[in-house]
Amino acid sequence: MNDAPIGIFDSGVGGLTVARAVSDQLPAESVIYIGDTAHSPYGPKPIADVRRYSLEVLDSLVDQGVKMLVIACNTASAAMLRDARERYSVPVVEVIQPAVRTAVRSTRNGRIGVIGTEGTINSRAYQDLFEVNPELTVFGQACPRFVEFVEAGVTTGPDLLEAAEEYLAPLRHAGVDTVVLGCTHYPFLKGAISYVMGPQVSLVSSDTETANDVYRVLVTRDLLRDSSEPATHRYEATGSSADDFIALANRLMGREISTVSLVQTG
Ligand code: SIN
Repeated sequence: MNDAPIGIFDSGVGGLTVARAVSDQLPAESVIYIGDTAHSPYGPKPIADVRRYSLEVLDSLVDQGVKMLVIACNTASAAMLRDARERYSVPVVEVIQPAVRTAVRSTRNGRIGVIGTEGTINSRAYQDLFEVNPELTVFGQACPRFVEFVEAGVTTGPDLLEAAEEYLAPLRHAGVDTVVLGCTHYPFLKGAISYVMGPQVSLVSSDTETANDVYRVLVTRDLLRDSSEPATHRYEATGSSADDFIALANRLMGREISTVSLVQTG
């Protein structure tokens, strides 16, 4: 079992930020990554559809024998984390709680903004976790076009900045000192978001903190890989073009992903 890969999934390329953080911390671990590009973006879709698509992808990872599942997608985490934990015998790590923990540590004035897809913000998954602490005031803001920009490979330029100004204005007026990037696509837009919010506002993304959770779970469950063989990294996408996925991943990650297998789930 310990030699088995970690299964990581997102609706598209956003979860690669989490996959990179996991590999940085755990270079000996093999990874299978699935981007559900056939159904991306998840953000505007009804929760029932997101749940179904996500479970189909996770089933496919479990069928491939992974030892752990990482839901590297906020919309999916908000929609089906409980279902996933009930359904699978392998441990399931997600991205929302790690980001909440980091934001609570980071804020000085107790005013926290959360940006995400419509699905994530409307689910109130973040707001509910923060609001157990009465000293915190949380402002949720959906930024639906941000995923479109990232999936088009656009991380700068006037259209993006105009959208960022519009989406982030309520958070600036609210005086937040910390903004949670509640979508794994958004770390690719950190420059634009930080430019609009200003240097005094901390941006929190879940990639490193989620990798800490992966590390912790592997250690506590005695699941760390101990093989001397090199780790393998396999990338799969459910959409119609492996080349598009490779081109976008390489543009955003600055790292060579040379092979992507097209798979069907469900
Ligand atoms: C999306 O597919 O709309 C974004 C994924 C996420 O919420 O992290």
